[in-house]
Amino acid sequence: MPERSFDGLHVAMIMDGNGRWAQARGWPRLAGHRAGAETVRRMVEAAPGLGIGTLTLYAFSADNWKRPQDEVAGLFRLFARYMRQEADKLRRQGVKFEVIGRRDRLPGPLVSLIEETEAATSAGSRLRLRVAVDYSSREAILRAAASGARDRASFHAALGPDVDLLIRTSGEQRLSDFLLWECAYAEFSFLDVAWPDLTESGVRAALDDFRARDRRFGAVHPARVQALR
Ligand code: FPP
Repeated sequence: MPERSFDGLHVAMIMDGNGRWAQARGWPRLAGHRAGAETVRRMVEAAPGLGIGTLTLYAFSADNWKRPQDEVAGLFRLFARYMRQEADKLRRQGVKFEVIGRRDRLPGPLVSLIEETEAATSAGSRLRLRVAVDYSSREAILRAAASGARDRASFHAALGPDVDLLIRTSGEQRLSDFLLWECAYAEFSFLDVAWPDLTESGVRAALDDFRARDRRFGAVHPARVQALR
């Protein structure tokens, strides 16, 4: 089936800084992830009004299994709670919820909840919300190749839409195995704010800056071609 098109930009977000945000307050890291889940709610609600058609959030990387077991379990509880509490609202708001990444290593009840939430919101056409869980971009590219992708169009179909703007919070300036293929021509915005403190106006400012950039995709701006003649 051809991919449904969602009007608007594809914005990807690396939700970094939950742990530091909590530790700075003398709280356990999980308190930071809980506050981070509130930011997820805010971002999803704000996205359509900001001109975002697809929002991809990096929630749990394939390398995050290296974290302490209780943090991993706590994160999975937060994902489950988010889906249980938000599924109905997402459906009413026209949000199509999807999870990208491996599912075979996730707890069975979490996988069932993911499948139920995806089914319940499958008709959404206002915002495509993709949450990356047990995700590695290198693995996704290898899987696409193993399933027969041989050219740009088939990799694109297997992996997902190109990213327009990637936002990473908390000062770190790296991609961490996230959407490597899809970010070929993405613009980047590294914000100094921790994920729990990210606001709608912070994202609006990043988008204003993005819209003022000159995206040439390797070509020369027409005005400059004129100037050379
Ligand atoms: C990275 O910050 C954040 C994560 C690995 C988890 C992101 C998860 C959430 C925001 C919770 C809920 C998500 C959903 C989809 C409901 P970090 O903890 O590595 O920060 P640090 O670098 O300060 O330690």
